[in-house]
Amino acid sequence: MIVNAPVVDADKVARIGRERQAVGTADLKRSAAFILEYNRRKKRLDDGNLAWDHQFSQKPFLRSSSEKTMKRSEINIIIREADDFIRTHGFHLPPFAHWTPNEWTTKGPEVREIVDRKLGWDVTDFNLGDYRHTGLLLFTIRNGNLRDPESKQYAEKIMLVDVDQVTPMHFHWHKTEDIINRGGGQLVIQLYNSTPEETLADTDVTISTDGVQRTVKAGDCVVLEPGESITLPAFCYHKFWGAGGKVLVGEVSAVNDDDTDNRFLERLPRFSSIEEDVAPLYLLCTDYAKYYRPIVR
Ligand SMILES: [Fe+2]
Repeated sequence: MIVNAPVVDADKVARIGRERQAVGTADLKRSAAFILEYNRRKKRLDDGNLAWDHQFSQKPFLRSSSEKTMKRSEINIIIREADDFIRTHGFHLPPFAHWTPNEWTTKGPEVREIVDRKLGWDVTDFNLGDYRHTGLLLFTIRNGNLRDPESKQYAEKIMLVDVDQVTPMHFHWHKTEDIINRGGGQLVIQLYNSTPEETLADTDVTISTDGVQRTVKAGDCVVLEPGESITLPAFCYHKFWGAGGKVLVGEVSAVNDDDTDNRFLERLPRFSSIEEDVAPLYLLCTDYAKYYRPIVR
């Protein structure tokens, strides 16, 4: 099913101007999502509300360091709720999902794979400071190492995507990934090919959904119902969000490397900066260096 993107977020409004320059007005018109936003923005301008335009056009995409931290207390709440949601859907996480920070300090070299492959919890707001609208919770269950051909050459994640909670437009240089709706609401995915310059192309996008090849227009959205999946090859720009309810999303992919293999259309950090206002409930994959002191027994 192809639908118009139903989502509105403030950063997208700021992005419209930049993307118009990048892909041109003709491309913009082919994208129902952008037309929706563009028309809203234009109406505001037509109404003489220049303050609105100024506010968004001047807003820096990457905020100052004082604005872009996530509080640990917020992360704890997000993880606790996600843990319940995942269990409610009959999906069970591996034991290390529930190791406490204290337990981590007792672990030895036998858990090196968890640390080195960045398995475990991952909560990001892409340093935009608005997790509810631009954010993602992930748990990496298994992974290999791009630089080690002897390692497993696959990865698996489970993710939680809320209604209208956007994961910004990006592609991967190396990773092909299957994104799977494991249950809950619908998952909406907007698609573009990449140009050689890594901007949004205006060409049709051919992808596979559950083994069925299909072609959509640049900027069209594919909606995955529970049980459905899509294969996203390298260099295929994608952006996604939930509709109709929180979505439990699976990812089965080639080796995942979030340090080097994410090309966001707008320059965004993949991991959030954290303000440690309380102790962690469970560690994020970016916390291991602080807590994990392997003891050779
Ligand atoms: Fe992706």
